[in-house]
Amino acid sequence: MFDFEFHNPTRILFGRGRENETGGELAADGVKRALLVSGRGSAERSGVLGRVRGSLAAAGVDAVEHPGVVANPVLPHALEGIALAREAGVDAVLAVGGGSVIDEAKTIACGIFHQGDIWDLFRGRAEVKRALPVYTVLTLAAAGSEMNKNAVITNPATRQKYSVSSKHLFPRLSILNPELTFTVPADHTAYGAVDAIAHVLEAYFTKKPGTRLQDRLVEAIVLTVMENTEKAIAAPDDYGARAALMWAATLALNGLTPAGAGPYGFPNHMIEHAMSAMFDIPHGAGLAVVLPAWMRWHAERNPEQHVRFARKIFGRDTAEEGIAALEEWFVRIGAPVRLAGVDIAAERVPEIAENAAGLARVWGIGEEYPAAVIEEILARA
Ligand code: NZQ
Ligand code: ZN
Repeated sequence: MFDFEFHNPTRILFGRGRENETGGELAADGVKRALLVSGRGSAERSGVLGRVRGSLAAAGVDAVEHPGVVANPVLPHALEGIALAREAGVDAVLAVGGGSVIDEAKTIACGIFHQGDIWDLFRGRAEVKRALPVYTVLTLAAAGSEMNKNAVITNPATRQKYSVSSKHLFPRLSILNPELTFTVPADHTAYGAVDAIAHVLEAYFTKKPGTRLQDRLVEAIVLTVMENTEKAIAAPDDYGARAALMWAATLALNGLTPAGAGPYGFPNHMIEHAMSAMFDIPHGAGLAVVLPAWMRWHAERNPEQHVRFARKIFGRDTAEEGIAALEEWFVRIGAPVRLAGVDIAAERVPEIAENAAGLARVWGIGEEYPAAVIEEILARA
């Protein structure tokens, strides 16, 4: 066990119908007026947004609406949200949606206090000093943003998809009702599953060996996600499967699994963020392409852990068998596993590698992952 600090202040309300408690919770925290951030229509169509509005009105909390957040949220729309939040004098930000909506809500919550260029918070040139309290009603099991301190935003002007991270960005409260994910289509259910699996595998493979508690936590999450993704795709309104997926995806990136595991990297995300910045593909779809390729490259460097993965997850004996089994599973749930599957031509690989290498430098893994190495990894995809 390595030394660590673990801090997660996000309160979770989990269960059926709990979005109806939103207004009461905000009012109890003294919130008078909230910026209500949402996406491009799914929350309106499913009825959750209507129920949240009703709950806020009943509790006497004003809602100033900022809809239209796109998947892979973009800086200009977040800047519009910041301007609106300032003008309306809101005292909290409430996200109703998936990771994209939550990440834009977090960006607005800290951006409202930032003097100067907001992008500096993302490229590591400035720190978040304060943020409005963030509340979330989650509608998609995937990113883990509902219980962590990160937000990922794309700057279309520079084609950079970068993240900001601060203790001020943990949501104060997240409401997790698995029923709200019944309407998530099969493709996004699959991409969310891949994302949650990737979140735990990044540290599983890149940390130092021998921290077995952390290994087993990861293996439990991977097995749970796999089992329940298949159930949720077969029967979208299977509450038990949706509930297991939702909580597993939250635990996958809330700081629990890598605590005590020592230093680790996030190289698959570094590469995928370049892909979704440049080609606007769903994050989980990009990860399904990158992860098997990176694992084949990395298995030569850390064979023991890849053999452990093959044995514990698939009952196979070699690293390659484990990777092939994971890839087959991605295909079975409908996730792409080659660049061609997300309509990215092989000729674009050098550009992706350059873009990703820029992020690698920001994340302090630039020496391990120069563009040439990233090209070598993507050649396997
Ligand atoms: O815009 P709407 O209409 O809401 O549609 C969304 C979107 O098209 C739809 N959707 C969401 N809930 C639904 C639903 N459709 C039907 N029923 C529902 N209940 O699904 C589509 C994808 O939504 P999005 O929020 O983009 O997905 P996800 O939750 O996977 O978030 C992806 C974003 O999170 C970032 C990714 O890079 C990407 O930008 N990440 C954030 C992280 C974090 N903050 O810690 C970590 C992750 O590694 C990731 O990078
Ligand atoms: Zn992710």
